[in-house]
Amino acid sequence: MDTDLVIVGSGLFGLTMARRAAEDAGARVLIIEKRSHIGGNAYSHTDPETGIEVHTYGAHLFHTSNERVWEFVNRFTSFTNYVHRVYTTVDGVVYPMPVNLGTINQFFSAAYSPDEARALIASQAAEIDEGRADENFRTKGISLVGEPLFRAFFEGYTAKQWQTDPEDLPASIVSRLPVRYTYDNRYFSDTWEGLPTDGYAAWLERMADHPNITIMCDTDFFDESQPYHRDALVGKVPLVYTGPLDRYFDYSRGELGWRTIDFETEVKPVGDFQGTSVMNYGDRDVAYTRIHEFRHFHPERDYPRDKTVIAREYSRFAGRDDEPYYPVNTDADREKLLAYRELAKDEPKVLFGGRLGTYKYLDMHMAIASALSRYDAIVGPYLRGEDGAQ
Ligand code: FDA
Repeated sequence: MDTDLVIVGSGLFGLTMARRAAEDAGARVLIIEKRSHIGGNAYSHTDPETGIEVHTYGAHLFHTSNERVWEFVNRFTSFTNYVHRVYTTVDGVVYPMPVNLGTINQFFSAAYSPDEARALIASQAAEIDEGRADENFRTKGISLVGEPLFRAFFEGYTAKQWQTDPEDLPASIVSRLPVRYTYDNRYFSDTWEGLPTDGYAAWLERMADHPNITIMCDTDFFDESQPYHRDALVGKVPLVYTGPLDRYFDYSRGELGWRTIDFETEVKPVGDFQGTSVMNYGDRDVAYTRIHEFRHFHPERDYPRDKTVIAREYSRFAGRDDEPYYPVNTDADREKLLAYRELAKDEPKVLFGGRLGTYKYLDMHMAIASALSRYDAIVGPYLRGEDGAQ
């Protein structure tokens, strides 16, 4: 085989690893991708009716404070000056998110100063006895932000996200709830933030565009009818695997829990549906958790003025055939994860990476940073044949 490195999965982890291996070690890299396009979940497509860029697997906002990551991604795309802000509709009223002084004053119809608001929330939070705080997610949440704010902004949304009543969720899944005592409603606080100027697909394609990188789409690593499947490759060529960890081991230690999202995408015959890119819905009787309106990600673009694309999001637990989006991470999941990590240690010349391969939620900048550092520490020295590398 005239390939020095095989990478399973063309998401940001796989593409970053491929690019470094091709450029730094001059390696010939083959990427196997089971979808019909590259880029993993960061991929976006153009809606054929409106020309509006739609984030195919849910809204993706790029942000980072990691200078190396920022420099790396800027080789392949420039970024717009988009700044992400989120609003939420609760009981027929729209509030700014994350919960901040503006939200608090609007909610209580008040004009509290930061210290007054802090004292109010602390007194409401103190209504839960210390001993009860760890009983469940609800008691913990109330002990952090008080009952009124918890009920309005966290309880319904959490119940919908987890399809579980917060009283039945463990307290351990929450350590803090975001509340700001300023009017700052900027969603991210990283040094750099923006959206790829020509869209995600163009960015991701430029990353893959290198003479040493070959990509095979529509190719499943576990499909034994194609030549680049697991049993044909493992141990014979260095491999980076970014698919689901439990799938690699045929679920032999059990299935790792994931949540997935169903998207209901619709073209609306109006120029502007909701006036902003993301609107959360906190009420339990609204089945979706939020609505995205994609035109607002690119106000600088010349999109049609009489049509817009929206997507409603519905969150649920993932089955084996669903797209795995967010790790559930129960105690049982963590036990299985440790068992899979033990198995992974014995796989010859295989590195498990990315969010699916490590069973960790990673933002895009984290997936890129992880690929850069694991290339430096493991894959690079191996490909360059340095002593001690394995
Ligand atoms: P990713 O999942 O992107 O790529 C893995 C690839 O492996 C996929 O292309 C898959 O098809 C392929 N694959 C799997 N099994 C295979 C097999 N058997 N054979 C061949 N190929 C296989 N981040 C952020 O910074 N800002 C944001 O706003 C968001 N928003 C967001 C929303 C939603 C709904 C999700 C789920 C995630 C985000 N993210 C995000 C996170 C972002 O998507 C994440 O950081 C990257 O997807 C990580 O890239 P990976 O390469 O690790 O995985």
